Amino acid sequence: MLNRKDVLGLRDVSREEILSILDMASEMKKRIDNPELRIPELKNTSIVTLFYENSTRTKTSFSLAGKYLGATVQDLGINNSSVKKGESLIDTGKTIDQMGVDIMIMRNSLAGAPHVLAKNVKAHVINAGDGANEHPTQALLDLYTIKDYKKSFDGLKVAIIGDISHSRVARSNVFGLKKLGADVTLAGPSTMLGGLGKLGIHTTSDIREAISNADVIMGLRIQFERFKTMSFPGLEEYRQLFGLNAEIIKKYAKKDVLIMHPGPVNRGIELSTEVVDSCNSVINIQVKNGVAVRMAVLKLLMEGGHVR
Ligand code: CP
Repeated sequence: MLNRKDVLGLRDVSREEILSILDMASEMKKRIDNPELRIPELKNTSIVTLFYENSTRTKTSFSLAGKYLGATVQDLGINNSSVKKGESLIDTGKTIDQMGVDIMIMRNSLAGAPHVLAKNVKAHVINAGDGANEHPTQALLDLYTIKDYKKSFDGLKVAIIGDISHSRVARSNVFGLKKLGADVTLAGPSTMLGGLGKLGIHTTSDIREAISNADVIMGLRIQFERFKTMSFPGLEEYRQLFGLNAEIIKKYAKKDVLIMHPGPVNRGIELSTEVVDSCNSVINIQVKNGVAVRMAVLKLLMEGGHVR
């Protein structure tokens, strides 16, 4: 169980809590394929999703995860809400909090927005991605997928490649992977390596070095929407220096390397279509595991007994 009010980031979630979520996700995964196994354990739970930024995977999988557990799930629909009349984040949160809501799931472009919400509402708050800060449930589904294939994290070599500086996925994965004992390398243009190197993580701008001996390669989307100025000369240069194609993978990576990406993928930029669709790719499986992991987080949070 998760005896905590909120899930805001993996920086402050313990190794034991992470492992309990991964274990529970294995149970939950059985229920995705077989509706007869679905038990409405959260039938008295109400969930509201507040997505101030676009999402396909996270929003839909949280919504389905709640419904598979029998919860009532409502999306605020930010674009048609009073947010568009200028209502503040705190006032919006306090308003929703009055409606008998147990869990609020928030995505926002501002780092720290879910933390502000969590301080101002009685409901549990789950961070579904805040700016370049954290995306804890994405990292949890990534950890689940890695564990499913590689069994142990001890000494496992994970290369995270691409737009590190804008990546909340990279940050949450670094916190989670380090807690579980993996050996992480971050690779990308020096202008996009951000501050994660300061956490004692090996960084390089040579992707060949990063992928040699890697057990897992995690590609990241270039987040053009967060650029104030371009961090590299052009897309063709990026593709040549940092794009992962079948030739590079064949030449430098292990035969059984796991290719991951949180999605959505800029096909042909960070990963070639051949790599995305290769037999080493588990990108679609990550999506399915996302539902299982989010079911586990919702269930464990509601069972945690945290007094609100
Ligand atoms: N990986 C991820 O967060 O995808 P969405 O933006 O589609 O939710």
